[in-house]
Amino acid sequence: MSETPMSRAGTAEPDYSLWLFGYGSLIYKTGFAFMERRPASITGWARRFWQGSHDHRGTLETPGRVATLVPQAGAVCHGMAYLITPDVLEGLDVREKNGYRRVVTDLYFDDGERSETLVYMATEGNEAWLGEASALEIARQISTAAGPSGPNRDYLLMLADSIREMGHDDDHVEAIEQALLALEGRAGGS
Ligand code: SIN
Repeated sequence: MSETPMSRAGTAEPDYSLWLFGYGSLIYKTGFAFMERRPASITGWARRFWQGSHDHRGTLETPGRVATLVPQAGAVCHGMAYLITPDVLEGLDVREKNGYRRVVTDLYFDDGERSETLVYMATEGNEAWLGEASALEIARQISTAAGPSGPNRDYLLMLADSIREMGHDDDHVEAIEQALLALEGRAGGS
């Protein structure tokens, strides 16, 4: 896992860079090289735990639930933007292969600057799509699922913590977090 900017020394670098916006595990778990990391947001998209995970936080038999984006007028999704070189996308395409595709959209940095960004999103109808469910149903599913990347609950709790650490709220994520903690007998969080 790499949390540090990519070294430029002695490497044959592609001659351009691009922004990648992360709103799920890409906020708290990089594992790829980047040159800059800046809090940012995209608009018109809402973060939702509507995507199944067969390969990271669940299995084919017991899929987990992970974040994707759904179109919603007026929505603002806060996350983390990374300045990367295009070669990094090869590894990311493998990591995000379970239903995600790359989309280009406008990017708004928290300091007011703007740019364009790539974002991985899993749209309705992909092979791992699960769709809408109540916070309690989602929390129940998350509480029992685990995959090669670890327990599904850790994905949820790390994402909820990361959003708070960036100084933002996400009602959807918080509702599922509270439901999960209640199921675990830890209502109110710890
Ligand atoms: C993302 O974090 O931007 C994509 C979804 C995920 O990998 O959790």
